Parts: sequence; structure tokens; C-alpha cells
Amino acid sequence: MGGVWEEWWWWCARPGRLPRAAPLTILIATVLTIITLLFFLNAKGLSRHPVPHQVWDLEDHDFDGAPQNHPDLVSYIRQLHLLAPSTGPYNLHNPNFSDFSQNGQSKKIEKILKGKRGGFFVEAGAYNGEELSNTLYLERHLGWTGLLVEPDPWNFWTLRKRGRKSHAVHACLSPSPYPKEVTFKQSDTMGHIVSGSEENNPHGIFTRVKCFPLYSLLLALNTTSIDLLSLDVEGAELQVLKTIPWEKVIIRVVCVEYKHVPEGGQALITYLKEKGYALDSTLGDDFIFVRKDIVERQNEGNL
Ligand SMILES: *[C@@H]1O[C@H](CO)[C@@H](O)[C@H](O)[C@H]1NC(C)=O
Ligand SMILES: *[C@@H]1O[C@H](CO)[C@@H](O)[C@H](O)[C@H]1NC(C)=O
Repeated sequence: MGGVWEEWWWWCARPGRLPRAAPLTILIATVLTIITLLFFLNAKGLSRHPVPHQVWDLEDHDFDGAPQNHPDLVSYIRQLHLLAPSTGPYNLHNPNFSDFSQNGQSKKIEKILKGKRGGFFVEAGAYNGEELSNTLYLERHLGWTGLLVEPDPWNFWTLRKRGRKSHAVHACLSPSPYPKEVTFKQSDTMGHIVSGSEENNPHGIFTRVKCFPLYSLLLALNTTSIDLLSLDVEGAELQVLKTIPWEKVIIRVVCVEYKHVPEGGQALITYLKEKGYALDSTLGDDFIFVRKDIVERQNEGNL
């Protein structure tokens, strides 16, 4: 190596050679520098899910398509998106109501779980946190807590004023096992993720909203065992259920609206049966499924 360098250097340094060799050396050095720079810039772009020192260093789109258990995604949700439960008093329009659910879902769930106190729920969409709420009764009367998921910005804003004793997140549950951003059509209780055919129809109020997988949200809450999943997401119910890694989570009761599921109610029954659930009851437009093996053992005090 040393010999080659020396020879080259002597060749360059010989009088008369230098003026001709210098531009060539400068040209080679410049090209090498540019190639090196391009390489590093490109490498930064290619590493889609880098390990950051701080969550704040990340940009939202760094997470598009990230696996749902990615630790950076989980801390990003925990630090930037989860809102803590209210510590103040409730601020309800109808404080004298007890069960706010439309067809007695809350009382039904209470009965299935034998009046369990201090349970944990996830409710999506949570609407304004009061009207039609499947979980407010459980929270107020049985000391449950949980997570309220609501993508509609207006509904979320009113929800936050209710003083609910649960975490809240302004997002949708992702219909895919990774986070993504979607166009959401705002429509009071009927808001939903915009699907292909609707995209060309400009009527309505549209907004962009982040979707997080249910499993990522559970990890952000440090829990993988919940008593109730209440799903009313205007059509994406089966897709959301299919993102759940069932071998890693325990969900005792699933209350799911079947009316808008494009695959049909039977598809929900078939899918959840495969996962160990039995259809317990139908209340209004909701199916209530129970993991009988777990719930019965629990009710007998063995779990
Ligand atoms: C709730 O009930 C209390 C007492 O029963 C009554 O004084 C109050 O006016 C009621 N509030 C509403 C909003 O109906
Ligand atoms: C979950 O655990 C982390 C790390 O221990 C903690 O910082 C965070 O507050 C916990 N979050 C909740 C919602 O309990």
C-alpha cells in the first residue's frame, strides 16, 4: 500500500507533472465527496424506522406502516397522543341518567361480569363521552376506567369537557395492523373513514385523522388484559378486530355494532367464534360476545 502511495505521490510531485495532475486530483476528490454525501443522505431516507434518542425527534410519517408493537410507536402514542383521565368532577348534560347506553348494553355487561368493580374498557367511537355511552355507567357506578377513542374533532372536543375518568385519544382505531392516516368524514354519530367510492364525492365535512392499532394503544396504556371492548366504528368493526393479536391479549367481553359491517353480521360471529367467543346477546344494533372460558372461571373466583 505504502509503496503505491509513494510512487503516486512522487509521480505527482515531479516537476512539470503537478500542474497537470492537480486538476485531476481535485476532480476525483470532489466526485468522491459528492458520492459520500449522497450515500449518507440516502441512508437517512432509507432507514424508515430509525431508533431515535427522543420521541420528539421523530416525524409523524416515520411511523406510517410501522409494526403495531414497535416500542417507538408505543412511546410516541403514550407521550404525544394519550390524554390523561380528568381529576375534576363530572360535567354531564344529564347527571341524573344512570345507564346512557342505547339498549341497556352497560347493565348487560355488568350482569355478564357479575357486577365487577374497577374493570377496564376500550370504547371506540366514544362520541361525546356521554350520549349513547356504553361505558359511562360502568365508570361512574362501578369505578371502571379505560380508554375513549374518538376520531371526530368536534365530538372529541365535547368529550374532553365531560370530566370522564378515563384516558382519551383523538384518533381512530386502525383497520390495519399498523398506524396510518386516513380521510375521515365528520357526521355527528355517523362519522367514518372515507372509502374508495366516497372519495370523489365532495359533499360533507372531511378531516384527516390518525389511526392507531388497538394493540399499540393497549401497550401505551401498559395493559393487554381488558374487560370490555366496545366497538362502534361505522363499518370498520371486523377490520379492526382482525388487527388484534389474540394470543397476546385478553378481552373478556366484546360489544360490537354489526349494522354497518360490510362483510355482514354473520362474518363477525364466525370470526369471533374462531377466537373463542360466544354470542351472548343482541341489543339493538349491537352483538355482545363473551369469552365464556375466561369469564366463567373469573366469576367463580379462579382467575
Ligand atoms: C336531578 O335530580 C335532582 C334531585 O332528584 C333534581 O333536583 C335536579 O333538578 C335533577 N337535574 C336534572 C338536570 O334533571
Ligand atoms: C406506562 O408505563 C410507563 C413506563 O413505566 C409510564 O411512564 C407510563 O406513565 C405508564 N402509562 C400508563 C397510562 O399507565
